[in-house]
Amino acid sequence: MKASMNIVRLISSFREKDSYSIRLGDALIDKLKKENPVQLVEKNFTLDPPPYLQQQHIQAFATPIDQLSDEQKLARAYSDQAIEELLAADVLIVEVPMYNFTIPATLKSWIDQIARSGITFRYTEKGAIGLLQNKKVYLIIASGGVYSDKEMQAFDFTESYLKYVFQFMGITDIVTYRVEGTAIPELKNQAWQKALKQLEEKPEFTFTM
Ligand SMILES: Cc1cc2nc3c(=O)[nH]c(=O)nc-3n(C[C@H](O)[C@H](O)[C@H](O)COP(=O)(O)O)c2cc1C
Repeated sequence: MKASMNIVRLISSFREKDSYSIRLGDALIDKLKKENPVQLVEKNFTLDPPPYLQQQHIQAFATPIDQLSDEQKLARAYSDQAIEELLAADVLIVEVPMYNFTIPATLKSWIDQIARSGITFRYTEKGAIGLLQNKKVYLIIASGGVYSDKEMQAFDFTESYLKYVFQFMGITDIVTYRVEGTAIPELKNQAWQKALKQLEEKPEFTFTM
């Protein structure tokens, strides 16, 4: 029997059934399910938003486990669980509606909670080393405008940021799917068809255990 593929899915659009990033995420998961048995952890940041990073979190992260107060344990709880889920994942699906040229604040908060020195990356004399290994990331980016054209590329701070931050933490297998032009009536339908086509055509990861 084939081993299960552990997927963590991050949903950051608040548009539920109308959301293109969620719909493309659904299509990708359906596709992956046809190829592998899947274990899915779904994190919907509209229903359960990650806490904004504060001083209390940083202090709790820096305190040795056996010295944590009850308050500090609570402050670390979201981060500890999110990292546990991430470490267990083979595949991370990040569904991203573009807001004001970049990622939603909820998704940024999740990243702030999982980017932890000594756990997901560490600094050495030679610079930073990513500690997340054997993971693949699918970025699914929905935007009202079109950013894959040369002219607009410079104003898209979603893909460049996400690729950099995941690579910083050690993940180098990253594939991007886009639904572009969702706010442009004459492009809307075409945008969705084009996005589905990418699922068929873009390089697939080979999942091996
Ligand atoms: C608050 C807000 C800000 C947005 N900012 C941008 C933007 O900077 N550039 C853009 O192309 N589209 C922008 N849009 C449009 C969304 O990216 C577009 O509706 C996309 O389809 C949202 O993803 P979703 O369908 O998964 O919800 C914005 C939408 C909202 C609600």
